[in-house]
Amino acid sequence: MKTAPENRTVRAYSRTARALHWITVALVAIQVPVGLTMAYRGNTLNVWDKLTGALYGGHKVIGATILIVVFWRLVYRLTRGAPPDEPTLEPWQKVASHANHWGLYLLLVATPVAGYVGISLFPALDIFGLVKLPGIVAPDKAAASAAFAVHMALAIGLVVLIAVHVAAALFHYFVRKDNMLGRMIPRLLR
Ligand code: HEM
Ligand code: HEM
Repeated sequence: MKTAPENRTVRAYSRTARALHWITVALVAIQVPVGLTMAYRGNTLNVWDKLTGALYGGHKVIGATILIVVFWRLVYRLTRGAPPDEPTLEPWQKVASHANHWGLYLLLVATPVAGYVGISLFPALDIFGLVKLPGIVAPDKAAASAAFAVHMALAIGLVVLIAVHVAAALFHYFVRKDNMLGRMIPRLLR
């Protein structure tokens, strides 16, 4: 039986929360491959041409945008809350999903902050030779490598949590056949 429209607004995330979720998904889906490609071209192949420079510039702009969108989303989440949990969840599933979500938020903030600390230490604050970002710590080349190593470790952690998150969303929709995915895509509510 299809869910009545009034139930949808209670059970699904608000339009704003959904928009912020899917904007974050799109930005992260671009950011990770751009980060891997630019670091491979620069650090492994030692190719520092226009394309590598553009990828670094794009990575900094998208990374800063992710930080702003996630900050907005966190403020919205903490002030407006979330719809009540999908009612058929087992207690352990509630704990696991909340841990996954707060872990995602933590890494969505920590990863770009570590990247920003890295480019401040290096320093590599220039974007496309047009804009110079303000540095947040004093330059220190040795510390920059450590910050980039932390940045990469956090990005790997983020990708692992996203993989678990997406696998869970698909498991709920196709195997458990509950309304979890409908919370972020209301037309899929059953
Ligand atoms: C959620 C946001 C972000 C994600 C998921 C992300 C992901 C990545 C990944 C996967 C790499 C490649 C790691 C490697 O192979 O060394 C990378 C490298 C890098 N990221 Fe990010 N990044 C994010 C935000 C940022 C931000 C905000 C900045 C700076 C403003 C930044 C600056 C850099 C730099 C400079 C490198 C190259 C490090 C090196 O050459 O060793 N990133 N990032
Ligand atoms: C970059 C990838 C992603 C990130 C960073 C991400 C992040 C998040 C976060 C932080 C939440 C918690 C929302 C809150 O309560 O404030 C959430 C919820 C949710 N996400 Fe994602 N997400 C990603 C990709 C996806 C994808 C691809 C799907 C669908 C296949 C999806 C489906 C959902 C669903 C259904 C919820 C609601 C879960 C619930 O109410 O318990 N997400 N996501």
